[in-house]
Amino acid sequence: MVIQISPSLLASDFSRLAEEAERISHADWLHVDVMDNHFVPNLTVGLPVVEALGKASGTPMDCHLMIEDPDRWAPAYVEAGAGSVTFHVEAATAPVRLARELRAQGARAGMGLRPATPIEPYEDLLPELDMLLVMTVEPGFGGQSFLDVCLPKIRRTRKLIARHGLEMWLQVDGGVSLETIERCAEAGADVFVAGSAVFKADDPNEMVDQLRAAATA
Ligand code: DX5
Ligand code: ZN
Repeated sequence: MVIQISPSLLASDFSRLAEEAERISHADWLHVDVMDNHFVPNLTVGLPVVEALGKASGTPMDCHLMIEDPDRWAPAYVEAGAGSVTFHVEAATAPVRLARELRAQGARAGMGLRPATPIEPYEDLLPELDMLLVMTVEPGFGGQSFLDVCLPKIRRTRKLIARHGLEMWLQVDGGVSLETIERCAEAGADVFVAGSAVFKADDPNEMVDQLRAAATA
């Protein structure tokens, strides 16, 4: 398993996004949280900002869509420059059709689960996906405390992926820090989103390195 770090720009200075992206040049991905004030009670950025950021930064974008009707909107994020697009299963009408569409566009297809959403009903969908995102906070806001109650689901999800002989990635998002990342890695996660931990650090790139080291240990 290759460990990857995807800092969430939600905790960065939105007035200087391109410069903030440069401060995390050691990262594998830029995690962009798209919220529509319906799927979650918060509103962030959409297509124009993603498109501008993609032109300004050389790091690939991992777009996390916390929006209603991802069936309609997700493909536009690939057109806007995202290398990976994650929709939430709770919001998608036709997740298999959507994942196939994203892959046909040349992007990685991710499917996200809120803390109370089990993985088991979606086992048969795994081969259609490149990544599963297990949320470790209720989506909507940065800076929340990591929910330990999600760890067994990470473990079960990794086992299901292995049982199917798949190479897919398992991302965790929410409250990931030097305090919690080892627990996530031990449970089987390999892609780590961290917002506050990275951008509240004096040196975000150094924090990316430290998180990677802690997850690898
Ligand atoms: C929350 C977002 C996260 C958020 C994580 O709904 O999906 O990506 O930015 O922030 P931290 O790392 O501060 O919990
Ligand atoms: Zn996110």
